[in-house]
Amino acid sequence: MDLQLNGRRALVTASSAGIGFAVAQVLAEEGCRVAITGRDPGRLEAARGSLPSERVLALSGDLAQVEDILRWSEQIQAAWRGVDILVLNSGGPPVGRFEEFGPEEWLSAFRAMVLPMVTLTQAFLPGMRAQRWGRIVVLTSTWVKQPPREGGVLSVAMRSALAGLAKQLAWEVAGEGVLVNHVMPGPTWTDRSRLILERQAALRGAPAEEVKRATLADVPLGRYAEPREIAQVVAVLCSEAASFVTGATVPVDGGQVRSLL
Ligand SMILES: NC(=O)c1ccc[n+]([C@@H]2O[C@H](COP(=O)([O-])OP(=O)(O)OC[C@H]3O[C@@H](n4cnc5c(N)ncnc54)[C@H](OP(=O)(O)O)[C@@H]3O)[C@@H](O)[C@H]2O)c1
Repeated sequence: MDLQLNGRRALVTASSAGIGFAVAQVLAEEGCRVAITGRDPGRLEAARGSLPSERVLALSGDLAQVEDILRWSEQIQAAWRGVDILVLNSGGPPVGRFEEFGPEEWLSAFRAMVLPMVTLTQAFLPGMRAQRWGRIVVLTSTWVKQPPREGGVLSVAMRSALAGLAKQLAWEVAGEGVLVNHVMPGPTWTDRSRLILERQAALRGAPAEEVKRATLADVPLGRYAEPREIAQVVAVLCSEAASFVTGATVPVDGGQVRSLL
């Protein structure tokens, strides 16, 4: 199947490693020009160097800083005059129980996870509407569909807001050529999943190996996803192949979500 992504301009946030990087990689392989973001300039540069394209924009900065987001938007407008594809990924909030987080932690989780998605959509949606073609994919987690999760209070709350935003936006722009979908990765083997494993082990007072076994017992396919397995589904949603899909929530989770719908 030809995804017809060749020449499309794609911004993938939080993409110097892990799932975001894999999405940028698959889109670049399909012929997209990709813009990637991350805070650590060394990691960002290494990611740029390993992407199969010479047309990569590497944008360094923090999703939690509005001025960084606005600077990225200006850089992309100057280089490409907009994007066709927006993949909204984030770094994820701290793991911990409800009583550990005060108003500052709640606000900073909102600033790092929800606000950037709003600001970037505001920056690039007008261009997508004007050309009557655009794809927005919001990445969250199966924790949205299947909470509660140990230490997951900030994650579940912020990602539920993002899921609602994606659904509402899909409806508001339907008929203008812009499709908005929401992907929920299940356990995926990355730096962050290793970190979460250790944190959950500490919260439970159990060895990390035991927590890992319990995590995988919850996944019918019995293993973590490779980041690329998430990215391939995202790429299809960004493509012509998904031209009748909008407002959907798509789990890529090895069967982890147990609900029928
Ligand atoms: N791995 C899983 O099992 C899994 C499952 C479901 C959902 N998720 C969610 O998917 C997202 C990505 O997870 P991952 O496992 O791919 O993480 P990862 O391997 O740690 O990669 C995170 C990427 O985001 C960047 N990043 C983090 N915070 C950022 C910030 N404030 N501003 C800009 N860039 C930032 C990181 O670069 P810098 O650190 O250099 O900024 C890195 O490029 C997270 O929200 C995670 O919770 C993960």
